[in-house]
Amino acid sequence: MKQSENSDVTALDPLDDSPIARELADLTARRKNLDSATVSLPGRTRIITVSNQKGGVGKTTTAVNLAAALANVGARVLVVDLDPQGNASTALSIPHGTDTPSVYDVLIDEFPISDIVQTSPESDLLTCAPSTIHLAGAEIELVSQVAREHRLRTALEDYLSTVEHKPDFVIIDCPPSLGLLTINAFTAAHEVLIPIQCEYYALEGLSQLLGNVRMIQKHLNPALHVSTILLTMYDGRTRLAQQVAEEVRSHFAEQVLDTVIPRSVRVSEAPSFGQTVIAYDGQSAGAIAYREAAVEIIQRYNDTHAESAANEGGA
Ligand SMILES: Nc1ncnc2c1ncn2[C@@H]1O[C@H](COP(=O)(O)OP(=O)(O)OP(=O)(O)O)[C@@H](O)[C@H]1O
Ligand SMILES: [Mg+2]
Repeated sequence: MKQSENSDVTALDPLDDSPIARELADLTARRKNLDSATVSLPGRTRIITVSNQKGGVGKTTTAVNLAAALANVGARVLVVDLDPQGNASTALSIPHGTDTPSVYDVLIDEFPISDIVQTSPESDLLTCAPSTIHLAGAEIELVSQVAREHRLRTALEDYLSTVEHKPDFVIIDCPPSLGLLTINAFTAAHEVLIPIQCEYYALEGLSQLLGNVRMIQKHLNPALHVSTILLTMYDGRTRLAQQVAEEVRSHFAEQVLDTVIPRSVRVSEAPSFGQTVIAYDGQSAGAIAYREAAVEIIQRYNDTHAESAANEGGA
């Protein structure tokens, strides 16, 4: 049997009311809920950019694990790795050496996205437009380019209008900055997903990020909105994490997912095996949380759109 994180609670003494037994019972119940959850995909492509200019808050971890969890419920997903670090490409086991055609070629040399897309060995439904280190120069090279803020958007529009199997989701992993790469992501996307790490400086810089989203809405992409905030690396044993979570929820009640991603060793070690946590240890607490987040992201969208359809019908 694997680690205690995965053990079946039925194997435990029913009188055992220790914290670990309670945690395992909770995980088992959540796993069962997930297995019986029905999800319906909206039939149109949602383009979500995972952004936060703060470094190391869980953007890439969220982009790849959410993508894998969405593929796990039958969604077709394209991950666009817009970070020169190439961490999302690594986690999805996508080759991204210097000779690989990449997002750099799309942004600078107008390659079609279909020329650079690769399929992750994890699932046929999970594809990736990789980044290479060349992308580090793109931020500066883009400055002198025509339509420099629209390049990703145009390329994605072309891709979505020609590809045989349209993705249900495009998830863009942004670098930790608010430069032209992130602006390209904001211009191309419908939704912004902000991962927030439950720590002391969590909200610092958030107003700058939201200010940028407003600026993009005004000048480049009126459809853009912050649809989702996800609390990451949550350690419920600390008072600080609880306080940060409460504060974020009080400011952004509508956007914050009920699901919280716990700090988990499995989540952090999965990329070193070129895997998402869904493939690496799908029954672990981190994998379950990302699977729950995926279902919540689908269901919230369906609920909102059913509501607006009902309002339009009744008007
Ligand atoms: N839930 C988690 N539990 C444990 N470790 C985590 C979790 N989420 C992320 N990490 C770890 O935290 C570090 C930063 O995560 P990640 O690379 O996803 O952040 P990022 O916002 O993409 O960083 P950057 O700004 O450099 O792009 C990584 O080492 C990752 O493995
Ligand atoms: Mg990253």
